[in-house]
Amino acid sequence: MTLRFDGKVAIVTGAGGGLGRTYAVELAKRGCKVVVNDLGGDRHGTSSSSSMADKVVNEIKSAGGQAVANYDSVEFGEKIVQTAISNFGRVDIVINNAGILRDTSFQKMTDLDWDLIFKVHVKGAYSVTRAAWPYLRDQKYGRIIVTASNAGVHGNFGQANYAAAKSALIGFANTLAQEGAKYNIIANSIIPTAGSRLTETVMPQNLVDALKPDYVTPLVTYLVHESVQDTGKLFEAGAGWYGTLQYYKSKGKVISNATADDIAKNWDVITNMAGAEYIGSITEQTGRLVEILEQHESSANSGSGSGSGSTGG
Ligand code: NAI
Repeated sequence: MTLRFDGKVAIVTGAGGGLGRTYAVELAKRGCKVVVNDLGGDRHGTSSSSSMADKVVNEIKSAGGQAVANYDSVEFGEKIVQTAISNFGRVDIVINNAGILRDTSFQKMTDLDWDLIFKVHVKGAYSVTRAAWPYLRDQKYGRIIVTASNAGVHGNFGQANYAAAKSALIGFANTLAQEGAKYNIIANSIIPTAGSRLTETVMPQNLVDALKPDYVTPLVTYLVHESVQDTGKLFEAGAGWYGTLQYYKSKGKVISNATADDIAKNWDVITNMAGAEYIGSITEQTGRLVEILEQHESSANSGSGSGSGSTGG
């Protein structure tokens, strides 16, 4: 094993089963000390028990690894981080993985369906990461993962709450990547696909059995290693396929003094993705808009700014 984690401490939330268990077990195998957090409730975010986290801690310990259980809900990040500090004296890696589902059509969605999903996925990732952040900053080292979903990228019928929360996590990680850069804190988002107790309600049994969580584990393990420098990115894994997703912007078209009719007339050009480009940051995008404003100004000054005309794309 080349990628080792000796001396490092990881918090894996929701590590009592499914994907989280595999991350905890694999990291421990590679020398990492692991806080196995799990509330031990059901998949809809109700009830709790210590048995899920305990089982994984025992599994790690009997294989010779080091792990400690934590049973707090991810909303209480301070307590989870404190478990790492009290038992292992530090925290280096935060894998925000805990999750629940409250699927229902939007017509039938209740405030509770919405709030519980946001509480676990968004507030939970915020709370654990927020409590770890001062330690990561002070030691100038940190590796953070948030768990997004294809639902957050594409939307998914019956998952307006979950899709919104998963999408929120991508913006969260991308911002942490920027704020953490000078402290060697790296933050990335992942989109897993795996059979688990969450997906057994939405996938046929043969897919649940075939899409082993272990297919996702190597990507997450790699992403929290000290050798990784990629940050603010979105990666995907499932069924043995590993890839990345990026937003591309169409070349679009600059139209001075555009009216809605001009937009309609130019719709094909505006939405044409041929030659679309990757824009890496808000700064880059704002820079482009400033350039376009300057073009408007100079064409207005030279007397050619009236009516609709293309200055690009
Ligand atoms: P899972 O249900 O097996 O694992 C989630 C774990 O989180 C459970 O052990 C549960 O007890 C724990 N948990 C729930 N609420 C908690 C809370 N408040 N505090 C602490 N622990 C809590 O499901 P799975 O599939 O392993 O999901 C892991 C993550 O991956 C979730 O965030 C899920 O949304 C995400 N995901 C999974 C996909 C899949 O195909 N399995 C697809 C896309 C995203």
